[in-house]
Amino acid sequence: MSYIFLVGFMGAGKTTLAKKLASKLGYTWQDTDQEIEKKEGMKVSEIFEVRGEAYFRALEKQLVDELIPHQNIIIATGGGLPCFNDNMSKLNKLGTTIYLERTPKELFQRVKQATNSRPLIAHKSDEELLEYIETTMEKRREIYLQSTIIADRFSQTPEKIIALLQN
Ligand code: S3P
Repeated sequence: MSYIFLVGFMGAGKTTLAKKLASKLGYTWQDTDQEIEKKEGMKVSEIFEVRGEAYFRALEKQLVDELIPHQNIIIATGGGLPCFNDNMSKLNKLGTTIYLERTPKELFQRVKQATNSRPLIAHKSDEELLEYIETTMEKRREIYLQSTIIADRFSQTPEKIIALLQN
C-alpha cells in the first residue's frame, strides 16, 4: 500500500476520518489544506481572498505533483482538489482513493454551522448554500466516482473502511 487518499465534498468528514484511520492503521496522515496553509503561512480563506482561487488550485496541483512514492500515509484532500488539473487521475496512479459519499442535503446540514472558514461558501444564506452544494456536486460527482473505493454514509467508520481496503 502506498498512499490512501480521502476525497469528497466539503463537510464529508475527510480530515476526521483520516486521523482515526491513521491511528488504527499506524499510518501518518496529512490534510492538503493544512499543508498549503503551512507552506504559504496563510489560512485557505486568506489565500482565496488575497490571491484568488486560481492561485490556490495551482498550489493544490503543485502539492499533488510533488508527492513522491511514500509508505503508509493517509491524505485528506480539499473538496475541490480532485476536480482540477487532472489531479484525480494522478491520485489514482499514486495510491488508493476513497470517496466519502454524502448527499447534498447531508452535506448542507454538516457545513452550515462552519461556513466562515470555507471561502467558497462564506456569507451564503441557507438557501444559497444548499443550491451551491447541489450544483457543484453535479459537476464534481463524476470525478469523485472515479475513486477506487466508494464509501457510502454507512461505511464511513475506520473499521468499515479498513474492511473495504482489505477486499
Ligand atoms: C474547497 C474545499 C476546502 C478547501 C477550499 C476549497 C472546495 O476543503 O480546499 O476551501 O473547492 O470544495 P475541505 O473539503 O477540506 O473543506
